[in-house]
Amino acid sequence: MTSDHLMTVYNRAPLAFVRGDGAWLYAEDGEAYLDCVGGIATNALGHCHPLMVAALIEQAGKLWHVSNMFRIPGQEQLAERLTRACFADRAFFANTGSEAVECALKTARRFHARRGAPERIDVIGFAGSFHGRTYAAINASGNPDYLDGFGPRLPGYVQIALEDQAGFEAAVAEPSVAAVIVEPVQGEGGARALSAADLLRLRRLCDTHGVLLIHDEVQSGMGRTGRLFAHQWVEGTEPDIMAVAKALGAGFPVAACLATETAASGMTPGAHGTTFGGNPLAMAVAIAALSSAQGRPSDTHFSISAI
Ligand SMILES: Cc1ncc(COP(=O)(O)O)c(C=O)c1O
Repeated sequence: MTSDHLMTVYNRAPLAFVRGDGAWLYAEDGEAYLDCVGGIATNALGHCHPLMVAALIEQAGKLWHVSNMFRIPGQEQLAERLTRACFADRAFFANTGSEAVECALKTARRFHARRGAPERIDVIGFAGSFHGRTYAAINASGNPDYLDGFGPRLPGYVQIALEDQAGFEAAVAEPSVAAVIVEPVQGEGGARALSAADLLRLRRLCDTHGVLLIHDEVQSGMGRTGRLFAHQWVEGTEPDIMAVAKALGAGFPVAACLATETAASGMTPGAHGTTFGGNPLAMAVAIAALSSAQGRPSDTHFSISAI
């Protein structure tokens, strides 16, 4: 087998794994590798954690997928658990971090539009940030390498250097600004943590100018910094909207856009949607992963007797 029929968007290492167990990966030739990549902040519980395997198998035997046209009890349970654990009141479930970011950006613009200010579309992002690979996400990140060859930049995206306090203060005061998007700890930017003072300043300036604050905790969330979400180290820095993914499913594709009741107020029926986001399989695994992240036994709707 070769990769001749795959799009050449990755320079892949010449290594294929066939099995994982805890912190170890096993290659085709049986060689064991200590996994220091962890799926890039995703396999937070190691490979084939028995709780995750049991959750997946049990749900797989019951129901994989139903449309979001119906109630999905796992979504209601996970939304309740996540919102109880942070600032948020509402959740939208998606499959990838980029989708969670998309939802966050749409939620912010829609909030202003529904409040009679549709001209508030600008999103301020920071140099060195990474928010994913969709059009909105590459525009919010502003990395020229990821924008190259994909046509003109979308209107309404502004980039500021994290250190440029005066520049940010001027930009956020513009009446066209809808939101600020920031990773409390930049991932791809080099594990760069914002200081407590920076996080507080962003929150204060957003409040002053009626701008929504979006935290991208796709990489820093789900216990990665020792708190469930990185911003929870500093009281008073809670965002209005937050994107979460990666370790949310501990390796299963699932993501969430979390928001306060107010910030989510524009997201009325028809404003957004997804086919696969939040399906019963993803919810069962994410509930089990969250239980582990919070260090308590699962109280999900499936039994864990198989462990
Ligand atoms: C901070 C951050 N946001 C968003 C994303 C995009 O997530 P995904 O690759 O699941 O679309 C990533 C992925 O690395 C990320 O690190």
